[in-house]
Amino acid sequence: MSVAAREIEQAVEVLRAGGLVAFPTETVYGLGADASSPRALARLYEVKGRPATHPVIVHLADATQLDEWAVDVAPGARALAEQHWPGPVTLVLRRRPGVLDAVTGGQDTVGLRVPAQRSALALLRAFGGGIAAPSANRFGRVSPTTAADVRSDLGADVDLVLDDGPTRVGVESTVVDWSGTRPVLLRPGGLPREQIEEATGHRFEAGDASSPRAPGTLASHYAPMATVELHADLAALPRRARELVDEGRRVGILATKVPDGLPGAATVLAVPADADEYARVLYASLRDADHAAIDVVLAVAPPEIGIGAAVADRLRRAAATGESEGTRRA
Ligand code: TXA
Ligand code: MG
Repeated sequence: MSVAAREIEQAVEVLRAGGLVAFPTETVYGLGADASSPRALARLYEVKGRPATHPVIVHLADATQLDEWAVDVAPGARALAEQHWPGPVTLVLRRRPGVLDAVTGGQDTVGLRVPAQRSALALLRAFGGGIAAPSANRFGRVSPTTAADVRSDLGADVDLVLDDGPTRVGVESTVVDWSGTRPVLLRPGGLPREQIEEATGHRFEAGDASSPRAPGTLASHYAPMATVELHADLAALPRRARELVDEGRRVGILATKVPDGLPGAATVLAVPADADEYARVLYASLRDADHAAIDVVLAVAPPEIGIGAAVADRLRRAAATGESEGTRRA
C-alpha cells in the first residue's frame, strides 16, 4: 500500500484551507494542521478534545528547517537531529519569536521532529511549512497505528486520512527537552535512550521522564477501556486469570510468552517475540481488547532495554488509569 501523489496534493490543499489531515508517521498516525494558522490549530484542539495549554509537535520535512522554528539550539541537540532525523525523536527547544502560542501551549519552547515515513515526508515536502500534529486519537485514548483506528476515533471530524498501512514502530516518539543547558528525557519512545546517549555523549539521570511536565507524561494517558493489570512475573498470570474468570470477568493476556495453565476462557491478545514487536502490536492489542469487551488485560512488560522502556512506560500508564475512570474517555 502507498499513498498516491494525487492524494498528497489533495492533502496539501486541505491543510492550506485550514483543514485537518491524518497521516502516518513511523510511530503512530498524527492529526495534522498548518502550524502557522491559528484557525487550523483552533480546530485541531477542538477535535482532539485537548486543553489549549498542551503543546503539539511541529513536524518538519528535514533538519535544515530547525532554525526556522527554534533559537539557541545546543550543539548536542543539533547532533541528535543530524544523526536521528528523520526518526522517532522529538526535540523540545527554545521557540523562535513568532511561533504561535497555539503550538507551544503558551510556553517559550517548541517540540520539533522529522518523521521517518515516506508518505509523511512526501506530504511535508509538498506542503513546505510545519505541520502541527498530535497523535490522531481523542485526548486520553491510545494512539492509532492504522488508518482504520483514526477513522473509528475521529470519524467525520478529520477531513482526509492518508492510509499507508500499519505504522512501523508502534509507540510515540521519544521526547527530549533540550531547551536548557542539559537534556531531559520527557517521554521514552521510539528512539531508545541508549541511542540518544550514544549520539550526544550525554548520560540521562535516573528519574528523567518521571516529572509530569508534558501531557504525554500524565498517568491517565494511553488507556484502553479495559483495566490493565501489569505483572512482573509471567508465572502469576494463570492463577490471576482463573480468579477473574471465576468472577465472570473477561480476561485478555499480553506477554512475550504464553504461560502454561491459562484457563481456556482467557483470550491471548498478542505474544510479541521481542520488544520491537511488542511496541508494534501494543496499541492494536489494547484496542482489540476493547472490541472483544475484555474487562481485564493481564500484561507482562518486556525488559526495559531499548524500545522495551517505552513499552513498559505505556503499560504502566495504561495500568495506572483505574483511578481516573470517569475522565479517561475525555
Ligand atoms: O510519535 C509522536 O510523537 C506522534 C507522531 C504523530 O509524531 N505524536 C505525538 O504527539 O505523540 P502528542 O501530541 O500525542 O504528544 C506530544 C508530546 C506530548 O507529551 C507533549 O507534551 C510533548 O510532546 N511536547 C510537545 N511540545 C512540547 C513543548 N514545547 N514542551 C514540552 N513538551 C512538549
Ligand atoms: Mg498522544
